[in-house]
Amino acid sequence: MATKTGEGFSSSFGAIMAAAGSAVGLGNIWRFPYICGKYGGGAFLLVYVFFVLFIGMVLLMSEFVIGRRTGEDPMKAYPKIKPERPAWKFVGLAGLFTCFLILAVYLVISGWTLNYFWESLTGTLAGIADSDFGTHFNQFASSAIRPSIFIAVFLLLTAIVIVGGVEKGIERVSKLLMPILVVLLAVMCVRSLTLEGASAGLSYLFKPDFSKLTGEGVLAALGQALFSLSVGMGVMIVYGSYLPKDDNILKTSLWITVCDFAIAILAGIAVFPAVFACGQEPTGGPGLVYQVLPVVFNSMGGVGRIFSTTFFLLLSLAALTSAISLLEALTQWLSGDKLGRTGSAVIMSLIVIFLAIAASFSFGDGILSGVTVAGMPLFDFLDKLTGTLLPPICALLTIFFFGWVMKKDDIIDELSNHGVIKIGYFKVFYYFLVRFLAPAALLIVLISGIIGQ
Ligand code: PFF
Repeated sequence: MATKTGEGFSSSFGAIMAAAGSAVGLGNIWRFPYICGKYGGGAFLLVYVFFVLFIGMVLLMSEFVIGRRTGEDPMKAYPKIKPERPAWKFVGLAGLFTCFLILAVYLVISGWTLNYFWESLTGTLAGIADSDFGTHFNQFASSAIRPSIFIAVFLLLTAIVIVGGVEKGIERVSKLLMPILVVLLAVMCVRSLTLEGASAGLSYLFKPDFSKLTGEGVLAALGQALFSLSVGMGVMIVYGSYLPKDDNILKTSLWITVCDFAIAILAGIAVFPAVFACGQEPTGGPGLVYQVLPVVFNSMGGVGRIFSTTFFLLLSLAALTSAISLLEALTQWLSGDKLGRTGSAVIMSLIVIFLAIAASFSFGDGILSGVTVAGMPLFDFLDKLTGTLLPPICALLTIFFFGWVMKKDDIIDELSNHGVIKIGYFKVFYYFLVRFLAPAALLIVLISGIIGQ
């Protein structure tokens, strides 16, 4: 292995599971189905698939190439490729900073999810009246102690995996959790589809309605494609540095992309037919997961508790493998000769938990809700920064570096495993994407996004 610690994934399969674990997360389950329905179902899907394949997957391959070629963390990788322009390290740093902020927001939501898993398991949720789920969520999320405890537990689980190492921690856990996640999701899909009135949910999700596909919807599609594939922030540079040298980057990236997309679609099938069958309004985010779905589960009678527990377990596992990748990126960056993996993971966890708990305190009527950053509570500010602004900026800089600064021959050399894999005309097409199409599309979306603020 070329990495500074000598660690790496043991096989292609392990690498695919770990990176798909990073990609499949809260974004697939609580965001994708809703925006897909909102912006025109099948019409949105067409645009989304285009962005996923021609921008998201292209970035994924690019980050893998940068990571595997250098074997370094994002901050060292750029200057290693272009030593005469050391300032490129700031792109790596900006990505890591974005990871840090995303992790803080992610921890808050994961803490909520773990709490709901616990409340489903112990029967608390089953005892709440349908009309009270809104109040229940707001009271819980605005309180100080309980969310903080669940944030800490979730972070502890994440850190334990990181301390276990790349192969024995991240790879092993991902190989175990990803198949479990698919099975749980399949169970949820069967239940959802067999409810009476489920077809309305399917048409909400898939029936193409081009009149709903607005400019805003196109922006949402690109933002979601980047966030969902975990690209732009350097996480995939980190995982790229752990890729086996003989791994076929094109194939691995395609598998990850297909897994991520398939799970987003399955999540939609697991959720919306049930929401419609139960006469509820489609929505996304916290409203969907913590207010609408508990009503849906309660309407299923006795088995509802089982499905509720299954669903929150599924969401917690998906969040865990994504949080692992974020903490790993930060840990790899901090660790060096003096500070090993364990020390770096502990220090990073201690720093990020401060921000996560402050963000949690600022939510709803929390004790810090009166303190504002740029006119909004800290949680909303972080959510906005990490949801819409920072990922496309980092992605644009990464793809610009790749297409315009890094040498074409080096890229092709790495993609083809030094000429072992024949990539033929694909390289022409790929180079066109990284040089022109992907940066242009990102630039347009970013500018229109900023103007539209
Ligand atoms: N891809 C994850 C999701 O869809 O929830 C979120 C994520 C993980 C974004 C890791 C960025 C990242 F670096």
